[in-house]
Amino acid sequence: MLDVHLRKSIGSPLKAKLFPVAFACLLLPGVLALSADCQDTQPRGASHASVSERQPPPPSAYAGDASCAGCHKEQAASYPLTAHHLTSELPSETSVGGNFNPGANVLHTAVPELTYEMTVRDGRYFETAVMRDDPAHPIAVTEPVDIVVGAGRKAKTYLYWRGDQPAEAPSATSDAAINQLFELPVSFWTETQKWVYSPSYEDGTINFDRAVVPRCLDCHASYFQSLAPPVNRFARNSLVLGITCEKCHGPGRAHVDLMNSKNPPSHGQPMAIVKLTDLPRDRQVDICALCHAGAVRPLAPSLTFLPGDEIDKFLRITDEKSDFPVDVHSHQVQLLKSSRCYRSSQMTCSTCHNVHTPQRDADAFSPYCLNCHQPAKCGKFATMGAQIAGKCITCHMPLQRSVVLFSEVDGQELHPTVRNHHIGIYPEATATPKSASGR
Ligand code: HEC
Ligand code: HEC
Ligand code: HEC
Ligand code: HEC
Ligand code: HEC
Ligand code: HEC
Ligand code: HEC
Repeated sequence: MLDVHLRKSIGSPLKAKLFPVAFACLLLPGVLALSADCQDTQPRGASHASVSERQPPPPSAYAGDASCAGCHKEQAASYPLTAHHLTSELPSETSVGGNFNPGANVLHTAVPELTYEMTVRDGRYFETAVMRDDPAHPIAVTEPVDIVVGAGRKAKTYLYWRGDQPAEAPSATSDAAINQLFELPVSFWTETQKWVYSPSYEDGTINFDRAVVPRCLDCHASYFQSLAPPVNRFARNSLVLGITCEKCHGPGRAHVDLMNSKNPPSHGQPMAIVKLTDLPRDRQVDICALCHAGAVRPLAPSLTFLPGDEIDKFLRITDEKSDFPVDVHSHQVQLLKSSRCYRSSQMTCSTCHNVHTPQRDADAFSPYCLNCHQPAKCGKFATMGAQIAGKCITCHMPLQRSVVLFSEVDGQELHPTVRNHHIGIYPEATATPKSASGR
């Protein structure tokens, strides 16, 4: 394998094909259109001066998942299997997803002489672009996989740090070139088990320059310290990967200290931690909206939203619409809120989801519908009878191919499938439960 570091030479043969993706915010091109604003780290909502000046809690306010585990065994046992926990990790044999071994590790591109090779050496993972237009002098550009993003239900993508030394302390004096985070050009697509160009990288180009903005880590990690500018500069050691318990329950150091103290509070007394079921309904859903309302415009700095806060002061969430494009970057909040079920009941996300454990079987959700509905009230009951019982989801929350394009490989477009969270009546999903599950 070639892994000479030749960053400077990449411009020449392919210059016309290189394009400035640098500050693209989101994974999916379709989302880019909706989210040109999220490139900014700076809040813009002047009317919310109080939150826009808020500072994130210091790292010392957090205790970390390991410390919760000893006392909350039930949650701690299954949580590590969830997509939340696994959504960003260090590279390892289990986390990388794709096959980095010869035979399965090459992405061919629109330019026949250009390939990408994914390799593993001494436990480290790399992506290398190899240009062989002059066979005697191939050009290779290599960058390491430093962080894996995505639990891999649909895809995995990879990030790398540019610069050699991790800065010991987040000091403003360190070189700006160090600690900049970028997305690698090749991602792994789970459904087809194939390597694909990462979204917003153009097929046939050598490009490793897509900056990772804080908003990306807001949703896919738990903590980081920004060293902006530039926007993608972070203190490496400050990064807490995965979504931790405290992302939803708030900083937990005080709770841990209190519960370990000589006189811990008894059941029902204040416990210095956010109990979600004690919050008003809107505030419960707001926690999920931080990451499940799409790539909307931030009004306050990263990490300042805390459970219990009103999300509208932190993100400008677009209107609730049932025709919102379904995409991998998820508008579950808007879609659900647009449903009659939601409007006419006290439903929250927890009506169906227990986020402490993986739930991957759509049929297993039917009982939640039956908490509020009788099968006999469904228009299909007369003709289909009891068969509909376990199939409510298939017809009323159909799995749909996202309109958003993830990547294009060999002229084939990749569209992720997503569960439409607008609970409604879908005439096209009514033939039989089986044929309704994909389109
Ligand atoms: C030393 C043991 C201990 C540790 C460590 C601990 N907890 Fe708790 N926690 C408890 C006990 C005991 C309760 C009370 C349970 C009850 O009353 O039903 C509790 C209650 C809670 C509640 C509900 C609060 C309420 O008002 O009822 C949440 C949420 C919670 N813990 C989350 C966490 C998280 C997140 C962590 C890690 C950052 C954590 N806990 C660490 C012992 C602990
Ligand atoms: C800090 C951001 C964040 C918050 C807060 C958050 N999520 Fe998520 N959630 C994600 C991300 C990112 C994924 C996708 C993870 C992946 O596949 O890599 C996800 C995935 C999920 C999944 C699919 C899980 C699976 O294992 O298949 C469900 C369900 C979900 N979230 C529900 C919720 C609910 C309900 C809430 C609020 C109680 C919530 N999330 C809060 C970021 C978040
Ligand atoms: C607004 C929050 C948000 C932002 C910003 C965001 N994501 Fe996501 N991302 C999600 C959620 C939520 C999911 C899961 C969506 C679903 O399954 O409906 C997801 C899914 C993914 C997946 C597929 C995960 C899987 O298990 O299949 C990848 C890869 C990914 N995101 C990478 C990124 C990268 C890289 C960035 C930044 C450049 C980014 N995302 C920005 C919330 C976000
Ligand atoms: C994605 C958001 C999210 C994450 C991450 C999360 N929780 Fe929760 N947690 C909730 C929600 C929502 C509830 C209330 C509904 C329920 O029980 O499902 C809850 C309930 C609880 C409760 C019961 C007290 C209460 O608030 O009703 C405890 C204890 C708890 N979680 C501990 C943990 C621990 C420990 C972790 C990490 C291993 C964790 N949670 C991770 C969202 C989250
Ligand atoms: C928390 C209670 C609750 C749950 C859970 C619930 N619904 Fe509903 N749903 C309602 C209410 C209330 C209405 C409105 C009834 C009315 O206005 O007559 C409704 C309306 C509907 C409608 C009519 C929608 C329309 O646009 O006309 C359908 C279809 C439906 N629900 C299916 C489901 C399915 C399928 C599930 C499970 C995925 C589900 N519901 C879960 C409470 C709920
Ligand atoms: C084969 C597809 C299919 C399945 C499975 C199915 N439904 Fe329906 N459902 C429909 C259609 C289509 C309608 C619209 C009524 C009609 O025109 O027949 C409907 C209507 C409804 C309504 C609205 C009734 C009204 O008059 O407002 C509710 C509530 C409902 N279904 C609940 C459920 C529940 C709960 C389940 C699971 C037990 C379920 N449905 C399973 C297709 C289905
Ligand atoms: C009425 C039940 C219901 C409610 C309420 C609900 N969901 Fe879901 N959710 C589902 C079902 C069913 C699935 C599909 C599970 C599967 O196929 O693996 C799902 C899947 C998801 C996924 C994975 C997305 C995907 O397409 O793979 C995410 C993320 C999610 N839900 C987030 C949320 C959030 C956030 C809320 C609150 C705004 C919410 N859900 C409320 C039923 C519900």
